[in-house]
Amino acid sequence: MKKITLIGFMRSGKTSVSIELGKKLQIPRIEMDDIILQMSGRKSVSEIFDKDGEIKFRELEIRISRKLKNNKNIIISAGGGIIMNKINLDYLKQNDSVIFLKTSFEIIKKRLKQDTTRPLFRDLVKAKKLYDFRQSLYLEYANLVINTDDKTIKKVCDEIYETIGKK
Ligand code: S3P
Repeated sequence: MKKITLIGFMRSGKTSVSIELGKKLQIPRIEMDDIILQMSGRKSVSEIFDKDGEIKFRELEIRISRKLKNNKNIIISAGGGIIMNKINLDYLKQNDSVIFLKTSFEIIKKRLKQDTTRPLFRDLVKAKKLYDFRQSLYLEYANLVINTDDKTIKKVCDEIYETIGKK
């Protein structure tokens, strides 16, 4: 089994799908943001953004992508901004399936209504612009696109499993 990287906008379900898919495929999963947090010595992603800046966060993201380059048998739940630096995908795409979980902005907005943990979702207008800007990048880098709107986590995993199982 190769490695599988899940990409998509914030709250598109990458974490939940990676957990469920990990169980189904019986392979471990990792959350890139968790590793970034450990490396940064900060308490939260918001703290990294506020104290060190987004550029620092992106640098750490690139370092981790590079480290994960040759990993196999793993599911990677990437941060929503992974596609902002093409080099990440150059690393992650090696020996990899990159799966875009495509979720509508309306659903994401509802899910993030009370959420204060996403620094790039503090301003709704800017978040929508970011969402629109990123859609073509997610599509460009993915080799599988799964629409997640109105689907359960289980259904999304089953669809991924069907496609990957045939490879
Ligand atoms: C980001 C998404 C977040 C986290 C950081 C930046 C982004 O991850 O990496 O807040 O740029 O979209 P999730 O996609 O898991 O929310």
